[in-house]
Amino acid sequence: MTRKRSLTGIKPSCTVHLGNYLGAIRPALALAREHESYLFIADYHALTTQHDPAALRAAMYEVTAVWLACGLDPETVHLYRQSDVPEVFELAWVLSCHLAVGQLERGHAYKDALAKGGAPNAGIFNYPVLMAADILLFDADMVPVGQDQKQHIEVCRDVAERINHHYGEGTLVVPEACITEAPLVPGLDGTKMSKSKDNAIPLFAPAKELRKVVMKIVTGSETLEEPKAAAGTTVFELYKLVAPASDAASLEAKLAAGGYGWGHAKQDLYEALEAELGPLREKYAALRADEAALDRVLLEGARRVRPIAQRTIDRVREAIGITAASR
Ligand code: ADP
Ligand code: TRP
Repeated sequence: MTRKRSLTGIKPSCTVHLGNYLGAIRPALALAREHESYLFIADYHALTTQHDPAALRAAMYEVTAVWLACGLDPETVHLYRQSDVPEVFELAWVLSCHLAVGQLERGHAYKDALAKGGAPNAGIFNYPVLMAADILLFDADMVPVGQDQKQHIEVCRDVAERINHHYGEGTLVVPEACITEAPLVPGLDGTKMSKSKDNAIPLFAPAKELRKVVMKIVTGSETLEEPKAAAGTTVFELYKLVAPASDAASLEAKLAAGGYGWGHAKQDLYEALEAELGPLREKYAALRADEAALDRVLLEGARRVRPIAQRTIDRVREAIGITAASR
């Protein structure tokens, strides 16, 4: 049986946090083992909002090093950088000639940018087109994404179906969205952890800083002696996500019995985080320090996948009536 081809993009960011790890990285790596997986660093998508060249470059290396440190194996997963596969821009143009402006005007991200009163650039408007090209270029069968990306996948499916209908079935592979059921990770204040909210636990902060941040988690104000209900509290929900189930059950029992304070629970959480993240942090530091080595991994990934992109472009050119590319 042929395995399904799964593809997803990672937007570069310089502030990777525990929410990204538990809600995106860990689930994506688990899924990657089940499929033929394509994971790429969407650096040109980041350009829609990042116009500082040093920051854009740093963010690209940062996420690459983070994903590799967290266990992405470039031997079994196709890892590449969007900008190393320039065919994506040719396909994006073809797609944009088959997409109604009205559909893009209904895009959540574009509408949000307008609502904030700014003057969004055309890259924000065209974001879903480039994303559709990322997906269709590699004949992906499925695209694992969070709920927030669902509308983008709909645009991708619509344009692929329209092109197939007009130029012939099989011109493009119409992918399925696969909405990942990742846990929602709470931040220090109990609301969704986010880099823009100052409530994040940085993924690879040094151990001392990690402990300091964990101690800032907002908790109830019960006295040490009082029995405490663990379920639903930020400390316990985070603990459950990183510690073995038996340890979580025992922490819940200790809190319920009384005589065990939130400070103790935070210390337990810190130790569980350190056990999981400590070894990854060391790998991360070594990877991040060698940008040339990261480039080699990414370029090798692109070298392996580019022939697929070129075949798709040839097929699309043939279908739409543009002379075959001279290679
Ligand atoms: P942020 O919300 O901090 O800006 P991003 O939007 O860059 O994070 O998210 C990158 C990935 O991490 C997405 O797949 C997103 O769903 C996931 N993610 C971010 N924050 C959380 C969270 N608090 N809980 C679960 N997943 C999260
Ligand atoms: N838009 C996605 C995000 O913000 C990243 C992305 C770019 C992507 N191209 C993609 C995801 C293609 C899946 C498929 O997270």
